[in-house]
Amino acid sequence: MKITRKSALALGTTVSAVALTTAIAATEPGATPSITPKAMADALHLVMDSDRTIYTQKIVNRLVKKEKVITASEHFEDDKALVLPAQMFRFGAELVAKRAEKLDDVNFTYSLQSLWPVNKQNAPKTDAEKTGLQFIADNKGKNYYTEETLGGTRYFTAVYPDVGVAPVCVSCHNEHKDSPRRDFKLGDVMGGVVIRIPLDS
Ligand code: HEC
Repeated sequence: MKITRKSALALGTTVSAVALTTAIAATEPGATPSITPKAMADALHLVMDSDRTIYTQKIVNRLVKKEKVITASEHFEDDKALVLPAQMFRFGAELVAKRAEKLDDVNFTYSLQSLWPVNKQNAPKTDAEKTGLQFIADNKGKNYYTEETLGGTRYFTAVYPDVGVAPVCVSCHNEHKDSPRRDFKLGDVMGGVVIRIPLDS
C-alpha cells in the first residue's frame, strides 16, 4: 500500500512522516519544498556528530587508548600523531566556510565551543552561545534553539550538546594542562556545537 503523507499522518505511524511535516514547509502542489532552519540545522548536526563520534571511537580511542600504537596531539605534524577530534572538526568547518563562499544557496557556519575550553578561542562569545551552552549543560539530552541579530543580520542559532562519548575524550581533557575543568566523566556534556543560519536573504 502506498502511504501518502496525509494517510501516514492520520495513522500517526512513522517517525519520518512527522519529520516530513516539520521539515517541509511548502504545501502547494508544484511548489518547491522548503526546509525549516531547525530541520536543516538538526540534519547538519546529525552528520557532524556521527562523523565526530566515529573518528573518536574507531580511530582515536582505538589506536591511542586500546592498542596504544600512536598518540593524538595538537602538534600532530611535529609529533607524527593523530589530529585531535576537535581539530578534525575545526578543519572541516574551515573548509566548509571556504567552499560555501562560492555557493549562493549555501550559507551557514558552525563551531565547537565550551564553557570550560582548553583553547580560550573556543569560549562562547555571543549571549545566545553563552545561554545555549549553559542550557545544554543543565538539561542533559536537550538542544537549544534561538534567534539572534549580529551585525544587522538575523540568525537562527542552534546549540547541541557535545558529549564525552569515549574514555579518551574525558582523560585527555582532564589531564590537559590548559583545561580549566578536570572532573569530566564518560557521558558528560563537555561543550556544544553551535550552528548558525542567516534568516534574511
Ligand atoms: C588527545 C586529546 C583530546 C581528545 C582525545 C579530545 N579532546 Fe577535545 N580538545 C582537546 C584540545 C587540545 C582542544 C582544543 C583544540 C583547539 O585548539 O581548538 C579540544 C577542544 C575541545 C572542545 C572545544 C572547547 C575546548 O575545550 O577548547 C570540546 C567541546 C571538546 N574538545 C570535547 C571533546 C570530546 C567530546 C571529545 C571526545 C569525542 C574530545 N574532546 C576528545 C583535546 C582532546
